[in-house]
Amino acid sequence: MKKFHNRTELSYHIDAIKAKGKSIGFVPTMGALHNGHLSLVNKGLSQNDIVVVSIFVNPTQFNNQEDLVKYPRTLDADVSLLKTVSDTTIIVYAPLVEDIYGGNIKSQSFNFDGLEREMEGAFRDGHFDGVGTIVKRLLEIVKPDYAYFGEKDFQQLQIIIKLVELHHIPVKIIGCAIYRAEDGLAMSSRNEILTQEHRDAVPFIYKTLKTAKVKFGTKSAQSVTEWVEKQFKQQPLLELEYFSIADTKTLKPVKRKSTKKTYRAFVAVYAGDIRLIDNIALN
Ligand code: PAF
Repeated sequence: MKKFHNRTELSYHIDAIKAKGKSIGFVPTMGALHNGHLSLVNKGLSQNDIVVVSIFVNPTQFNNQEDLVKYPRTLDADVSLLKTVSDTTIIVYAPLVEDIYGGNIKSQSFNFDGLEREMEGAFRDGHFDGVGTIVKRLLEIVKPDYAYFGEKDFQQLQIIIKLVELHHIPVKIIGCAIYRAEDGLAMSSRNEILTQEHRDAVPFIYKTLKTAKVKFGTKSAQSVTEWVEKQFKQQPLLELEYFSIADTKTLKPVKRKSTKKTYRAFVAVYAGDIRLIDNIALN
């Protein structure tokens, strides 16, 4: 498997592939790869000749230094896992911070038409500036035909679609369904660092989202929200940070339901000091 740490060397290699008329898919990750990432890689391989997987824990998208330090870094295991998918058609780009940021570890400031201020944006100051900065840089380095993002980070996906549109980046963004463990927990690299006690408690998150979806069929957004908040209060191991029923396009909280709009429920939960997010389509 080809592995690059340097963007100039990666660019040469990609240019040579493109010169042969081959298409490039791209799966950006922060490593600690799991089956959710592999589902994105497999989707990429089904639509492209080559898939580039970047593995980079991006410092500028962490609003909390402790979270950045704790984030799992497992490059060798990640490469071995990718080899089980393909040794020849996957390229790994695992840069050091300097290769991306030089000596200036700072975010660019973006306006994503207000998408960045809702939910994660409200609770994680500067997070989407960091995501926008890294994704824009990686897209400029890799120059893929298609790039793949999971719907677990649904707000991130909408913001990246907006980023590409606003900055005229020539790539097609593909959103991929959330990959879940058998007990319903959305796959996340952070799941690996849950204690066993918290891992046993967290399937409650998706179970509650599924019931909220059923309730939303007949009840108002406010009454569903109150019901969800009450359920979490009864869970000593989980702390609800937010639950929001929002318009899928604007990500603004729904005030009055309309049959012409689509909605999603979004949740952020602390299991001990590990923060997890999830969401579900409601209609
Ligand atoms: O979703 C992630 O893992 C990250 O936010 C991304 C898109 C790789 C940017 O660092």
